[in-house]
Amino acid sequence: MTDQIDTDLANDGMPKIKIIGGNPLHGEIQISGAKNAALKLVCAGLLTSDELKLTNVPTSLRDMTTLADLLRYLGADVDMDDNAKTMSIRAIGGVDKTLAPYDLVRKMRASILVLGPLLARHGEAKVSLPGGCAIGSRPVDLHLMGLETMGADIKIEDGYVIAKSPEGGLKGAEILFPKVSVGATEHLLMTATLANGTTTLSNAAMEPEITDLAECLVKMGAYIEGIGTNKLIIHGVETLKGAEHSVIPDRIETGTFMIAAALTGGDVTLTNTRANTLDSVTALLRKAGADVTISGDKIRVRRQDDLKSMRGIDIMTEPYPGFPTDMQAQAMTMLTLCDGAGMVTETIFENRFMHVPELVRMGANITVQGNSAIVRGVDTLKGAQVMATDLRASVALVIAGLCATEGETTVNRIYHLERGYEDIAGKLSAVGANIRREN
Ligand code: EPZ
Repeated sequence: MTDQIDTDLANDGMPKIKIIGGNPLHGEIQISGAKNAALKLVCAGLLTSDELKLTNVPTSLRDMTTLADLLRYLGADVDMDDNAKTMSIRAIGGVDKTLAPYDLVRKMRASILVLGPLLARHGEAKVSLPGGCAIGSRPVDLHLMGLETMGADIKIEDGYVIAKSPEGGLKGAEILFPKVSVGATEHLLMTATLANGTTTLSNAAMEPEITDLAECLVKMGAYIEGIGTNKLIIHGVETLKGAEHSVIPDRIETGTFMIAAALTGGDVTLTNTRANTLDSVTALLRKAGADVTISGDKIRVRRQDDLKSMRGIDIMTEPYPGFPTDMQAQAMTMLTLCDGAGMVTETIFENRFMHVPELVRMGANITVQGNSAIVRGVDTLKGAQVMATDLRASVALVIAGLCATEGETTVNRIYHLERGYEDIAGKLSAVGANIRREN
């Protein structure tokens, strides 16, 4: 049965990544702009009739082009320059349509974030519900609760959210999130900038991508207090203006390469980073035994001794500044080869252990119990045909492939990977990995 699956995957005609592991990584890798910041910043372009110019954008990511397509569909002008890594959004005089169709939204959940900006600027919006995804059911109830508290009339019909602003526009409101949500915080933050009066978001998420969004909104003329804290106070303004903003470096891409460097026993310097957004990841790597040094926008990661100098440790995912769920799969790959055992507890998403069976196929020793996994370190991983159903699970398998000392690893279904990592095969082969993308 497994052989049949392997043959089917090998011949499915889809792009793949092939890795022959065992090479320590040496050299410099430049980190791209953060996907999870850029997506929201692009949506913020809908809030003004001026141009919003973004730099350091990960323009080659599929999620970026999907969102650009959605904005163009709505009637905004969007220019993307993949060489300059810039993106300009001009929703001059508003958009032609306030409908975001299922076909575009289903490709990327973050599309739901156009709802609030459309509503704030045009008084109405109809946006497809994004549906569940591989890592959990991922409802948007908190987004809708917030918009309703601001006076919006919200109906769900045929899989669409149909929203209308009250007479005179959205109103400032006191919103207390019962659960910390990155997306709902960003959505309501953007929407509140154009509401009448003051909005308070309490128990707000504090991820660096939210701070980046808030800083861009301030450049656009928004009035926001408490940036970087879990209480954001937004005083609504009449209109926002254009601005230029550089997207923060991707902390998850940075953390992913930090783990790859430590685990392969290399010596890698990551450039264009923001180390202060990675404290929990740096602490984890140091505790496990890696050597991490920070200097300006550079992070150097080395492993001084052999692999068994790395120790198994316990990890629990938490909202920022805790350990990010988006680094959980990569950290689990690290534990598979550390000395001793470590427990990984996932508290953000209910189904984010999809990489476990694939790591086990490569020789890892992992037992899952509920939302925890016990990982007992093994001596080696072996190459195998693997595939994953989400972005971070896929990259965890790439790291495993880099460390597998026997055989070749083929990572299938890499469209997940290409949603979030720019030219991962190119970046890793430039520092010595034996990795190639095959069409
Ligand atoms: C963002 O998703 C990121 N996506 C995710 O990154 C990241 O894993 C997540 O934040 C947590 O850090 C983008 O930024 C595009 P949430 P988001 O709202 O905003 C529940 C990646 O790999 N919830 O903070 O959707 C939800 O189900 C991706 O790059 C509700 O119950 O995450 C989850 O359990 C994957 N109701 C928890 O809250 C809601 O209305 C946190 O979700 C909203 C969320």
